[in-house]
Amino acid sequence: MIASLYLIALVLQWLFTTVQTYYVEKFGQSVLEELRARIHKKIITANIDFFKDKKTGDLVSRIINDTGMVNDVLVSGLLGGIGSTLSLVGIIGAMLYLDVKLTLVVLLSVPVMVFVAKHFGGKIRTAYRQTRREIARISSVVEEGVSGIETVKAFGQERKVEEEFEEASKGAVRAYIKVAFYMGLFWPLMNISSLLSIVLVLAYGGYLAYMGAISVGTVVAFIQYTQRFRGPINEVVSMYDSLQSALAALERIYEVIDDPNMEVFDGIRVEKLEGHVRFENVWFWYEEGKPVLRNINIDIPPGTTIALVGKTGAGKTTMANLIMRFYDPKRGRILYDGLIGTGINKESLRSRISYVPQETYLFPGSVMENIKIAKPGSTDEEVVNVCRQLGIHEFIERLPKGYDTPAGEAGKLLSVGEKQLISIARAMLKNPDIVILDEALSSVDPKTESLVQHAILKLMEGRTSIIIAHRLTITRHADRIIVIDNGKIIEEGGFKDLLTRRGKFHELYSSQMTVKPMVER
Ligand code: CTP
Ligand code: MG
Repeated sequence: MIASLYLIALVLQWLFTTVQTYYVEKFGQSVLEELRARIHKKIITANIDFFKDKKTGDLVSRIINDTGMVNDVLVSGLLGGIGSTLSLVGIIGAMLYLDVKLTLVVLLSVPVMVFVAKHFGGKIRTAYRQTRREIARISSVVEEGVSGIETVKAFGQERKVEEEFEEASKGAVRAYIKVAFYMGLFWPLMNISSLLSIVLVLAYGGYLAYMGAISVGTVVAFIQYTQRFRGPINEVVSMYDSLQSALAALERIYEVIDDPNMEVFDGIRVEKLEGHVRFENVWFWYEEGKPVLRNINIDIPPGTTIALVGKTGAGKTTMANLIMRFYDPKRGRILYDGLIGTGINKESLRSRISYVPQETYLFPGSVMENIKIAKPGSTDEEVVNVCRQLGIHEFIERLPKGYDTPAGEAGKLLSVGEKQLISIARAMLKNPDIVILDEALSSVDPKTESLVQHAILKLMEGRTSIIIAHRLTITRHADRIIVIDNGKIIEEGGFKDLLTRRGKFHELYSSQMTVKPMVER
């Protein structure tokens, strides 16, 4: 009878283990998927401020390593934890059934264990948190080294990057050793406190048996139960400690998810803009106390072109960032067709503006695919048409595989001039109401330069355009030129007007005109 019950128990154990393993893993993976998605969504939808103090490698590590850690603990912790808790309940129940007083004696060791677990738990958690940070630092060093590999090699920085890596790697080892040290103290203490209860059972149980209050068999049963008690208690406590590492990882995940820098997409949706842009007493700073723009007032009537010129660091790109609403003015406001910028839905506003940034970013994929991102769902014909209008169709056709030429990761396979032209084609395909061009000071050959310039003029035709001009020849085509210096407008007017005024613009212009031929020679 007992033998067959035992056999049934075995079969049930096998069945339950199988089912449990499958479902717990499934549950763990779905939690993992959810966490990964939430942290990634947060990163992609965060506003620009969010990225100010973040490192790519660290963010990657949070998505991969920290969520993975949470999953491991969830799976192993749940498996071990549920089983152990059930065993504990069973064992304590059986002990209580045999003798209540002796059970209480055995349970005396529990507060000791809890105390030990609590005391060392905090230290272990701190140490785990450190390991999470060190792992993230390793990914950062690798990420930075690889993405800047040309600079690393050109400046012979291999050894330095290697040293940084070794330092990060050693840091991780140090952090793990610290964890091991506390665990090393922790486990023996746990074991000893559980072994102490056997001593107590022997002493008190032996005494009771000697007095004839209980049978010797009960004492033997208690010793066995106490030994079996230790396993699940250890499991529960070790679950506690893997929970510590999971909490450290969760903290890092929620640091990102709970970051307040969210891109907010509320406000009025604009379908189409006339293109009237107006800066009213706009002040801006990235860092408190260091204004980058000071009381800027500009009125750009629909369909006109203004050129922003000024020394490096004057605040030109910052003005473009404000028009795009990557940031909002700290004081004053920007109006679009008379609507206050901060009241307009960012997404809809950005869909009406084409921004050609100072540095072109290309995604892995072909030239064709890279242009198409400006207008999802557009056809090859549309792209070709746009390139024809811009006068760059033949140029693209002459690339090794024409429109199918791969751009490589971050556009690594293309030249600066080629990237610029793709960027302009993108802007044109979007068919925007407003164009912002942060034209980079790149030394393309004169033929490409005139191609670029021609394309830029085509793009600006009939649209409100803000062109940040580094090559001042293009300012000739602007309706108005605004000279920025140290965040302030110091001069403005038409091209001829400013030249005859012989002020700051004239100075900038003539210095470029005289230097340029020398450079070309
Ligand atoms: N700046 C900053 N934090 C940023 C970007 C810029 O503190 N995230 C500072 C720069 O150090 C600079 C000032 O803001 O002093 C203006 O920067 P920017 O508008 O980018 O200058 P540009 O006029 O665009 O300079 P360049 O001609 O070199 O592109
Ligand atoms: Mg700039």
